[in-house]
Amino acid sequence: MTTLNDKETPHDYRIKFAKEDLDLFKKYKIKKILEICSGDGRNLLGLSMLGYKVIGIEKPGFVDEKLTKSANITIIQHLIYGQEFPFKDQEFDCIYSYQYLNHNYKEKIEDVFKEIYRVLKKGGLFSIKITDIEQLNLKHIPDDIYEECDPEFPKIKYKKLANQTFAKLEGNEKGIPHYGFFKAELIKSLEEIGFKLINIRKIRWNLAANFEK
Ligand SMILES: C[S@@+](CC[C@H](N)C(=O)[O-])C[C@H]1O[C@@H](n2cnc3c(N)ncnc32)[C@H](O)[C@@H]1O
Repeated sequence: MTTLNDKETPHDYRIKFAKEDLDLFKKYKIKKILEICSGDGRNLLGLSMLGYKVIGIEKPGFVDEKLTKSANITIIQHLIYGQEFPFKDQEFDCIYSYQYLNHNYKEKIEDVFKEIYRVLKKGGLFSIKITDIEQLNLKHIPDDIYEECDPEFPKIKYKKLANQTFAKLEGNEKGIPHYGFFKAELIKSLEEIGFKLINIRKIRWNLAANFEK
C-alpha cells in the first residue's frame, strides 16, 4: 500500500491514507478506530488490512453489505446529526472522518464534534478532512445563485442558505447544506470543545487536521 500525496484524494485510488496520519496512528498506539460516515467501507477495509480494529457509522441504506460481510467489518446504520452516537463514552482510540461532516449547518456540525469528543478516549486522536471554504470554487451569478467552477465537476448550481453554507439545486445532494470552514475557524471550533491541535494543512478541497483529546 502506498500513501496519499496532498494533491490526491482517496477517490483517486481505492485504499490510500496520508503518511502523516498513519505515522500518528503508530505514535498514539491506536488500536480501535471509528469512521464517521464511512460510505461503502473502503477506508475501513484499508485500515483493517493495516491491522486496526475498525467500526463505521453510515446513513441507513447506504452500506454495502456484501463488502462489509466479506471483510468482516461492522458498520452501524445511524444518522449522525441531531442524535447521540450509539457508543459509550471514551470507547475509541481514534475517530477518522474523511468528508461529509460538513454537510449541515455549522451548529449541527459542532454538535457532532461534541459527540466525537465524548466517544474518544482521553489522549486519543481525531483525524479529520473537511471542506476548506477557500477551495470552494463557486461563482456568484444573478438571482443569488452560485455556480460550481471547479473543472472536475459539472457546472452544478447552488443556492446560498447562510454564511459559508450552500445547497445544490440539482442532483442527489439537492437541498443538503454544505458548510465550508476557514482553517482558523475549524481550530477554534474544536479547541472550544477541548481538543488540542496536533497539525493542520490544506489538501485538495479540504483542510486535513489531527487533534488530540
Ligand atoms: C463523501 S462520502 C464519504 C465516505 C467515506 N468517508 C469515504 O471516504 O469513502 C459521505 C458519506 O456520508 C454519508 N452520510 C451522509 N449523511 C449522513 C448522516 N446524516 N448520517 C450518517 N452518514 C451520512 C453518506 O451516505 C456518504 O456515504
